[in-house]
Amino acid sequence: MTDININFFKNRRLNLAKDMEDNSVLLLNSSSTILRNNDTTFPFRQDSNFYYLTGFEEPDSIMLLMSSGESILFCREKNPDLEKWDGFMFGLEGAKQEFHFDKTFDIKLADELIPTLIQGLSNLYSLIGKDTLFDNKLISWMSKANSMERHQENINLKDFSNTLGMKRLIKSNEEIELMRKSCEIAANAHINVMKNAKSGMTEFDLESMYLNEFKKGGSRFPSYNPIVAGGKNACVLHYIDNNKTINDGDMVLVDAGCEYGLYASDITRTFPINGKYSFEQREIYNIVLEAHNKACQAIKVGASCLEPQIESETSLSQGLKDIGLLHGSLDEILEKKLFREFYYHKIGHWLGLDVHDDCPYSINGEDIKFQENMVMTIEPGIYINDSADVDERWKGIGIRLENDILATKLGYENLTKTVPSEPDAIEALMKS
Ligand code: GLY
Ligand code: MN
Ligand code: MN
Repeated sequence: MTDININFFKNRRLNLAKDMEDNSVLLLNSSSTILRNNDTTFPFRQDSNFYYLTGFEEPDSIMLLMSSGESILFCREKNPDLEKWDGFMFGLEGAKQEFHFDKTFDIKLADELIPTLIQGLSNLYSLIGKDTLFDNKLISWMSKANSMERHQENINLKDFSNTLGMKRLIKSNEEIELMRKSCEIAANAHINVMKNAKSGMTEFDLESMYLNEFKKGGSRFPSYNPIVAGGKNACVLHYIDNNKTINDGDMVLVDAGCEYGLYASDITRTFPINGKYSFEQREIYNIVLEAHNKACQAIKVGASCLEPQIESETSLSQGLKDIGLLHGSLDEILEKKLFREFYYHKIGHWLGLDVHDDCPYSINGEDIKFQENMVMTIEPGIYINDSADVDERWKGIGIRLENDILATKLGYENLTKTVPSEPDAIEALMKS
């Protein structure tokens, strides 16, 4: 359950209704239970947009928000037999009372009732393109509603992603408290595992230590599959095999964050498994650290959200040029994007209910500008694959440094700063 008061969700709905044209409705669906195999399911995780506006954590639900502010929930009828197997269900009356809906209906009646509820409206808003099955349902409900009365205007189907995404982008104080807690749990996990990591452990050993730390801290689930990549596995951005031995002299890149109150943290550290960076590892690390610091400094109220990207490309390119891994003038490196040989992802992403928060970076060709209480990850990296045309001693080094950054009135706050970022501080922590 949530730490956010239920009135909060109702107020969000009322506020959002003000952004809708008159005589309109917003329809959102919940997540469904997903089969893992045969009749066994993955743990249920509510859809973040649906959760943001309802706080309701059951599958098979649909929310209708009218521009008048009225809100309606379709959900599962209470079923005592099913509750004996799968646990508590709110049912129609419970959902209405506890989640402050004006009306609730049985989800089994959705196909029959939704066309009558939307008949005669001007606009139907939804998050188009995220769930094809639901998109198809919207179209069939609309076409049924349109055909109910020959002389009425057809309903317009409109995408609401940017409007809702902009709301989610600016976190309330309550959300920031949950994010601080999520960051604190993940940061403590990184600190405790770094203190206990030893040469010869497997990636899997470390993964289990992280997951245990998350649970001890009060987070049941990671916010994404942890990446625990020893040696050159670090150059594979989405490495999740996590099953190799980490040998003396190797670094390990761990990208692991947790979920608290459904809010994500997302932290990466790359540390030497034997507690001491080699000369080459430290050289690359310092370039990444410098780019990280420059990108953080680009987070300023009023600045474009793409500024950290530009800063990171410039800083990493200069650093790689200084140690002879990139050649030519800085302008040429940037113009031809030669840095992409070693830096092939973006500097970061919005963070919130989703680890890659479902919020826009630009709207109608205009970049989003930082505002107070937005949260973005800053995560530059350098990855030197075997195929790179460089001296052998650099090959197999993969380093990323990732922190979760809150935009503030005066600049920024690093929410994950308790985990050291500097190589000396990491070595000192590993010795302690
Ligand atoms: N952990 C996923 C990411 O850093 O984007
Ligand atoms: Mn990230
Ligand atoms: Mn990450």
